[in-house]
Amino acid sequence: MSYYGSTDYLENSDFLLRMKDMRKGNLDLGWMKAGTEQIEVHASSAKRGLTYLDLNQGSYGYDELAEIPRGPRGAAPRGASYEVDNQADLGPDLNLKSDVWAYKVASFYEEAVSRQWDATTDVPWADLDKYDTPEEVEIAFAQLCTFFTEVEMIATDLPAKWCWRMNNQFHEVKGFIASQAIDEARHAEVFRKRALAGGVGLMQALPQAEHSLKAILDSDTYSEASAFMHLLAEGNILTMFRFSEFISPTPVDKRMFQLVMQDEARHVSYGLQHLKWILDNTPERKEQLHAALDEAENFSLSQFDSALFEAMIVLAGKGTSPEQIKRGIEIVGTLQVRQVEEYFQRLRRAGFAERIEKSKFRDLLAAVSLNQQDAAIAS
Ligand SMILES: [Fe+2]
Ligand SMILES: [Fe+2]
Repeated sequence: MSYYGSTDYLENSDFLLRMKDMRKGNLDLGWMKAGTEQIEVHASSAKRGLTYLDLNQGSYGYDELAEIPRGPRGAAPRGASYEVDNQADLGPDLNLKSDVWAYKVASFYEEAVSRQWDATTDVPWADLDKYDTPEEVEIAFAQLCTFFTEVEMIATDLPAKWCWRMNNQFHEVKGFIASQAIDEARHAEVFRKRALAGGVGLMQALPQAEHSLKAILDSDTYSEASAFMHLLAEGNILTMFRFSEFISPTPVDKRMFQLVMQDEARHVSYGLQHLKWILDNTPERKEQLHAALDEAENFSLSQFDSALFEAMIVLAGKGTSPEQIKRGIEIVGTLQVRQVEEYFQRLRRAGFAERIEKSKFRDLLAAVSLNQQDAAIAS
């Protein structure tokens, strides 16, 4: 216990007198005149139900929320009355709207809660026994699942780390990243289960991945962490999920990737819309984001030289014979180009095209002689 109250209530005569008074029926009832806005909200779509978007009205809404909301720093919900001098200051670090806000964040939250799924029962695990996967392909797939499990565990920690630091006036963002934390916990679960269900188990935890993940966790600000994780890292992971669905050894794995992709696309969209919000409202933060992405891209590059990409080459080529490896390299080359192209596309959509000129990925593509003509995966 580190926060002690300033009053010992059982030693306080005013408190004891007041309590006895209440017991006699002498209620104050002042709270019944809170002076807050009285509105009655309705679902704009009965089929969809009552959403946070329907609550976006007046003092309860988020459109009217200023860049500097000079409201409470405690747990007062937006729209409630509060005594700013008497309420506990929870000391949130993120008090500016542009610190956390994203276009469409209420929609992302609603989508997240309506599309939850269950890694225990929504993947037809028993069907794995129907398919005869070559051992080296299963081993490579287990390596891929080990990497994804590591990534997903940190993707769980990151939103959890920042959630309580956000001012409670931004509850739609807090709700969204809380939903992300449970999405990511489920992703770690599904990849762990897949590695073990295939009979190989977990493989190597990769130092390259862990340094990159540590850099995400240690980002100085939430927005830097978001640019690194939501936009860059999860964007890369989303491209990898799509690729992994394409090269999945079994239909069970295809199903698993379809389920994780719908969550991952939502996380990436939030990151894109947060970046767009920052650039539209506080463009002075650009240089800070460039510096963060310089290092984020550097960490991301390190992963192109790891067991992860070898495993993907074996998976894509469906084996380790020279022809299979040659084919695997062609396909994985396409993936690498796609990762970079899709990252650049997200930067453009966020209004940050100037980043592309500075990106280290341009040099990477040139260094490994990759270009669009290497495309080998049918869209
Ligand atoms: Fe994930
Ligand atoms: Fe994610």
